Amino acid sequence: MTKVKSSEITPESLYLNRRKFMVGVGGIILSTAGFPGCDNYKTTYEPSKGGVLPDDKLTSYKDITTYNNFYEFSLDKEDVIFAAKDFKTSPWKLEIGGLTEKSLSIDVDDLTKIYDQEERIYRFRCVEGWSMVIPWLGLPLARLLKEVEPLPEAKYVQFMTLHSPSRMPNQKSRSFPWPYIEGLRIDEAMHDLTFLSTGLYGKKLMPQNGAPIRLVVPWKYGFKSIKSIVRILLVEHMPSSLWMKVNPREYGFYSNVNPTVDHPRWSQASERRIGEFGRRETLPFNGYEEDVADLYKGMDLKKYF
Ligand code: MTE
Repeated sequence: MTKVKSSEITPESLYLNRRKFMVGVGGIILSTAGFPGCDNYKTTYEPSKGGVLPDDKLTSYKDITTYNNFYEFSLDKEDVIFAAKDFKTSPWKLEIGGLTEKSLSIDVDDLTKIYDQEERIYRFRCVEGWSMVIPWLGLPLARLLKEVEPLPEAKYVQFMTLHSPSRMPNQKSRSFPWPYIEGLRIDEAMHDLTFLSTGLYGKKLMPQNGAPIRLVVPWKYGFKSIKSIVRILLVEHMPSSLWMKVNPREYGFYSNVNPTVDHPRWSQASERRIGEFGRRETLPFNGYEEDVADLYKGMDLKKYF
């Protein structure tokens, strides 16, 4: 395994002060007017290419940054912003390796300078039954995975959050098998919708949203979108996530948004869009069915939940 230093990576472009406005798998055009003000943040829709649906409205910056799940800091969604406010996220080393030809160790500040950042508007559906529409900033995970050249034996990708009880106070609690781990099959990880986010609404991520770098997998329940990542490992066997260890009956490896498979304790057929009244129907694969259904052809998604 050869080590590649971040300085040796060919810059795809120097750091952008322009942004890419093509988002989704080729879908959404954002207007620059008023950016990043939510009200002026206009979108047009091209069907079935990821991105927003005609009745999707961006969730406000305030809601996205004040209603959070981040158990390393607090179990109370409205308290995470306060519990995480002094969390230092720079410098921050991200390591990628395992069953790869090369390995990569890069500071996230350098990563955002070296790699072109783009915007993706994704629906985000939490397993608890609420959802948001979030304009993420970041890069497709596949860009970094291709850099390290996965070996043929690499079948899965494992992600790990920082483990530091002195910096993440709730990691002192023994109720969870820290660190937070998540996993994807390699084809899921390489899918163009799978995104590593370093920002939202054109600003750097806040600690409560998983700064400085977190995963976003828009067709899966929100807990797959692991925050504050320090290590990405290419592995041969299916990794066991924190939630699979905590409660394997309730949380499977795949966790695709599926309105026809209920959580053992509640229905997944509908959701509450934060900032709206009433509930809306939950869509298969969170509305990204045309983009991702092929990944699961022939699989019984009730069994592989
Ligand atoms: N990542 C870590 N490390 N710790 C967590 O507790 N919570 C998950 C996911 N990633 C979590 C995490 C859950 S349950 C959800 S719904 C999303 O983060 C919430 O992301 P948000 O707060 O940015 O909306």
